[in-house]
Amino acid sequence: MISLHQVQELQNQLNIARKANKTIGFVPTMGALHPGHLELVKKSKSENDITVCSIFVNPTQFNDLNDLKKYPRTLESDSKLLETVGCDIIFAPEVAEIYTEAELELKRQNIEDKAWTEGKEINFGKLDKVMEGAHRPGHFNGVAQVVSKLFRIVQPDKAYFGQKDFQQLAIIRSMTKQLDLPVEIIACPIVREADGLAMSSRNARLTEKERSVAPLISQTLFKVKEMQSKFSVTELKHLAEKQIATEPLMQLEYFEIADAESLQGINAHKEAKSAVACIAVKLGSIRLIDNIVLY
Ligand code: PAF
Repeated sequence: MISLHQVQELQNQLNIARKANKTIGFVPTMGALHPGHLELVKKSKSENDITVCSIFVNPTQFNDLNDLKKYPRTLESDSKLLETVGCDIIFAPEVAEIYTEAELELKRQNIEDKAWTEGKEINFGKLDKVMEGAHRPGHFNGVAQVVSKLFRIVQPDKAYFGQKDFQQLAIIRSMTKQLDLPVEIIACPIVREADGLAMSSRNARLTEKERSVAPLISQTLFKVKEMQSKFSVTELKHLAEKQIATEPLMQLEYFEIADAESLQGINAHKEAKSAVACIAVKLGSIRLIDNIVLY
């Protein structure tokens, strides 16, 4: 495994691989890796000749500066974990390697709307107006901005993302299509702890008490899935709200049952061919999200 920090050195390596007709799989991350990330790397390894994992805490996707400052930076332990699953290349650039000062300034002034398009305007329609998009203004622009840059740098054949960030996946698919980037997006199942909690880099920041109650989030989703054929959409929403309200440490940000493709909330099961239940909860100071495909 090699660790690279500069775009040019990464591209030199990948050019050699491409000339030898090797396929490239890509796993973009912000580090603080957990077994969920390692599953993405393993899947990439099984489908490609070379696997690149990027570790880059992307400043433009944080709408809360405090969150950006506190985000764990654990390159050394991340590298050790990536070695155990046979990752070929770690790409861990500095911010200046990815963004120009002008792009960062646009973000600081909160007029980032077109910064990520790099000359081409992208329209997510209603996709980024709901759920995470509604609660984290500018977040998906930042995600699309950095992923489009990383795709242009790495030029992978396939890129791997976890389904825990269900809406992020839809945004990335839309961005890839609109920019006509020749990358196949592969969605990988949510990896859960033994007690059901969806794996997330944020889990490590929970206190012992918060961690002990956190499985209520996934339990709520499992219950909703179990009851879906007996209850209406409105009843399922009430069930979820009531269940989260039983835990004083939790504050429900949203619980939504949405069309799995458009991500717009539905009022009746028949409104969607496939539906997903999505939840965001504030547990102490930590914000956790999870989801489950209902049908
Ligand atoms: O899911 C993440 O970790 C990030 O949003 C991503 C896709 C690496 C972009 O910074």
